[in-house]
Amino acid sequence: MTFHIGAKPGEIAETVLMPGDPYRARWAAQKYLENPVLVNEVRGMLGFTGTWRGHRVTIHGSGMGMPSLSIYANELIKDYGAQTLIRIGSAGALQHHVNVRDVVLAQAASTIGSPSRTIFREVNFAPVADFGLLSAAAKVAAARGITTHVGGILSSDTFYDERPDLGEQLQRHGCLCVEMEAAELYTLAARYQRRALAVLTISDHILRDEALPASDRETSFGAMVEIALEAAFA
Ligand code: ADE
Repeated sequence: MTFHIGAKPGEIAETVLMPGDPYRARWAAQKYLENPVLVNEVRGMLGFTGTWRGHRVTIHGSGMGMPSLSIYANELIKDYGAQTLIRIGSAGALQHHVNVRDVVLAQAASTIGSPSRTIFREVNFAPVADFGLLSAAAKVAAARGITTHVGGILSSDTFYDERPDLGEQLQRHGCLCVEMEAAELYTLAARYQRRALAVLTISDHILRDEALPASDRETSFGAMVEIALEAAFA
């Protein structure tokens, strides 16, 4: 047990999928895993371990934002030995050619500051995805006919942004979308030599007044789970 995860030793798989929402973790575990077992519910952050096509998998919530993800990813990596961590979540589009429902595979994640920011002092560390996971996920998504973009994203500390100029600069530099967790996940994976990837569905558009209808959320989320699982074991 750790401060935030009640799982016993051995109850967390080496492959962990991390949605932000703990209820999404439960939904995905019940839909995609065989024999899912609840292994954590401390503070309502649900984690389940089961098998997918014979492989052990844990699906564990990260909460929203890098400080929350950092707590769970640190403990999953350092205390439970997680080797492959894949974020599955939503993002707001920052480019006109990126549409609601599209999938973005985050090749690199810029930040203003992550929980790890201060250790790098004057260096702007560039958090990047694991290339093997990234290329496997791109192949899986293409084979499924899902419109997918691979490139840089912004991991923001805010959902309600008061800096429209920042979005404009990132847009100018090709940043595909904004979410709130990937950069810290990639930084921790680099620090501990683990594999990490963020698979994101565009849920809203920053440049246009558009959002994913509630009726489509389950289908989009399911597609991300399938991409993540197939990429993890490719
Ligand atoms: N996740 C989904 N949409 C987002 C947005 N617009 N900003 C930050 N994170 C998000």
